[in-house]
Amino acid sequence: MFKDQVAVITGSASPQGLGCATAEALAEKGCNIVISDISQENCDKTAAMIAEKYGVKAVGIAANVTKKDDVVALANGAVEKLGRLDIWVNNAGVLRDDLFMRMSEEAWDLVQSVCLKGVFFGIQAAAKIMMKAKRGKIVNISSVAGLVGSPGQANYASAKAGVIALTKTGAREYASRNICINAIAPGFIQTGMTGVLPEKIKEELAKMSPLPHQGTPQDIARAVRFLASSEADFITGVVLRVDGGAAIGL
Ligand SMILES: NC(=O)c1ccc[n+]([C@@H]2O[C@H](COP(=O)([O-])OP(=O)(O)OC[C@H]3O[C@@H](n4cnc5c(N)ncnc54)[C@H](O)[C@@H]3O)[C@@H](O)[C@H]2O)c1
Repeated sequence: MFKDQVAVITGSASPQGLGCATAEALAEKGCNIVISDISQENCDKTAAMIAEKYGVKAVGIAANVTKKDDVVALANGAVEKLGRLDIWVNNAGVLRDDLFMRMSEEAWDLVQSVCLKGVFFGIQAAAKIMMKAKRGKIVNISSVAGLVGSPGQANYASAKAGVIALTKTGAREYASRNICINAIAPGFIQTGMTGVLPEKIKEELAKMSPLPHQGTPQDIARAVRFLASSEADFITGVVLRVDGGAAIGL
């Protein structure tokens, strides 16, 4: 389905994360992969695992998504190393949870910078290359927190709501260039990011979903893969909830 295509996934080096699961879901269907994250060593390890497991080309290119130069170098590096750029997934994210009254400016700035500015830089850099090819798919990872709010996550929920606005604005701006920009809003999924939450909070989050089973990174990855595929060629500017029904009605 994705033979000869090239996908860049930010924040994808952690083997338990949604980014790595997305890279695997795309590689499983023949897509060549750029694993990107903060640490070059971790990028290289995950890229090597994907190349070996799926028989596709996979390279690691470290990039801090809060640095515009890094993100531009990542997009250009994908083309230099793998020849083209078809799919870009803005997946990198961090949490710095705290109640409104206690949240520090540093916690606010870091989360806005990674989760929102990083997506802005990603869309800019990817679309610049995709415009020349007159086609491309960008998928942004938002969150149900950005739709319904989340206590203790003023920084994160507002950044994820901002990702939805970036998605819709980008979709409108780039539609004439045949670049589709969509968002996924995952519900609670067990990963390195959420693994550190207290057990009680994890249980409460898991209970928010009416479906009787928990979501997995693969549930998110398959949804990203759909939006990145030609099956979704007439879809742009949508926010697809993959949350077991947690935010039904929105
Ligand atoms: N796990 C969930 O329940 C859940 C729910 C909704 C949304 N999300 C979103 O899904 C995405 C993936 O999260 P995850 O749960 O797999 O967590 P994760 O911690 O496994 O993955 C996030 C990755 O982003 C990387 N990263 C952090 N700062 C970065 C930066 N400045 N530049 C580049 N990379 C950076 C981390 O190194 C990490 O590998 C995030 O955007 C997160 O907000 C997760």
